[in-house]
Amino acid sequence: MSVSIHYDIALARDDIAGSRAHVGGLRRAGIIDAAEAESLLAALDQVESEIAEGTLVAGSTDEDIHTLVERRVTELAGDTGAKLHTGRSRNDQVATDLRRWTMRALTEVAAATIQLVEVLASRAEDAGDVYLPGYTHLQRAQPVLLAHHLAAHCWALLRDVDRLVASRQRTDVSPLGAGALAGSSLKLTPDETAAELGFSARFENSLDAVADRDFVAEALFDIALLGVHLSRMGEEMVLWTTEEFGFCVLDDAFATGSSMLPQKKNADVAELSRGKSGRLIGNLTGLLATLKGLPLAYNRDLQEDKEPLFDSVDQILTVLPAVAGMFATATWRPERMQAAADGPEAAAIDVAEFLVERGTPFRQAHAIVGGLVAESLSTGTPLEELIERHALLGPEAAALVAPGTPVTRRTTPGGAGPDAVAVQLARLHEAIEVAVRAVGARTVA
Ligand code: ARG
Repeated sequence: MSVSIHYDIALARDDIAGSRAHVGGLRRAGIIDAAEAESLLAALDQVESEIAEGTLVAGSTDEDIHTLVERRVTELAGDTGAKLHTGRSRNDQVATDLRRWTMRALTEVAAATIQLVEVLASRAEDAGDVYLPGYTHLQRAQPVLLAHHLAAHCWALLRDVDRLVASRQRTDVSPLGAGALAGSSLKLTPDETAAELGFSARFENSLDAVADRDFVAEALFDIALLGVHLSRMGEEMVLWTTEEFGFCVLDDAFATGSSMLPQKKNADVAELSRGKSGRLIGNLTGLLATLKGLPLAYNRDLQEDKEPLFDSVDQILTVLPAVAGMFATATWRPERMQAAADGPEAAAIDVAEFLVERGTPFRQAHAIVGGLVAESLSTGTPLEELIERHALLGPEAAALVAPGTPVTRRTTPGGAGPDAVAVQLARLHEAIEVAVRAVGARTVA
């Protein structure tokens, strides 16, 4: 039950890096001499290659990655090996390893998110003047450019990147030197080991250093919210690819047929990205429940932090490129989108605003146009005709409801029309560059 080697083997690289830094610390503290340091470092090098080659196999006494590495170092370096664990505990060790692992994972997830944003932004760029209905309550509300719709998802995903980077920054603190919970009587130098491991800072409080798993909870939250965004995008794709909407056709590589019904083409990638979000949320809430009852400092419950973290990172790194591929290869059906957006009712607000510009208070304008829409529906007279005949409106107002016109009139900053969207897309490109610089990587390592 207490064994965790089958999954914490993923921390091998970090555990060995932490041990190398600790050897440096032991040397500086005068606990080992230069020859002993060399022999420990040589043993650690060998353990690293044995793990990479798969020749170091965990036995029944190897509980976790820390005991496995130490056992093998002791076999290789003899008595000197027995000095490696001086002044440290698995408690500061595991926290150090997991922080390093998490920082790398956050970078990878952020880079994969940026790749998806780039796909959406380039599809937005290529969408030109294509428009579709914008919805509220899933009821057609006002036409919006397709580019505007796609860019909306980009901004949400860039906030995710922002969060991942901020979480990485908070994770960037070395717990090494906190020992079991209280530090050490030996002349260890946590500042120096932190620097050697590439951390920006060392812990301020040894109890907090070994008990804190905020960084895991944060990573899980960031990924869960990112997953929720992908889920919403997936749900939209499911809708858009239905016969009823017909806004989009998926590439065969991102859809599957039915095993029974020959005519079916199912949006499985979209559905899985929606489905996976449940699991990502579960990983987050599971860990929070694990953490909530823990007194200071380390408790073995904390070993339950790794599996949800590893799983969420694995899942999101599978979903992100799949969603990117789905969007990159989807074929839009502008004629369907535009036909759905072209009803004259969708331009009712423009007719009301026509009146407002000529001095009618908005509430009155709203009532006048609402009356015309109702009349058109009950009598079957086209709305354009009623607008044209109305004393306060006329042909100029009737022209506003012509297909394709309403979307061009969304001119305010951040709005859904062509001029505003052109500005927005330029800003989006700048924001992507800022995100790339913050992540420090554009592509997944
Ligand atoms: N495998 C343990 C974990 O993941 C390492 C720390 C064990 N510490 C202890 N005092 N038993 O948390």
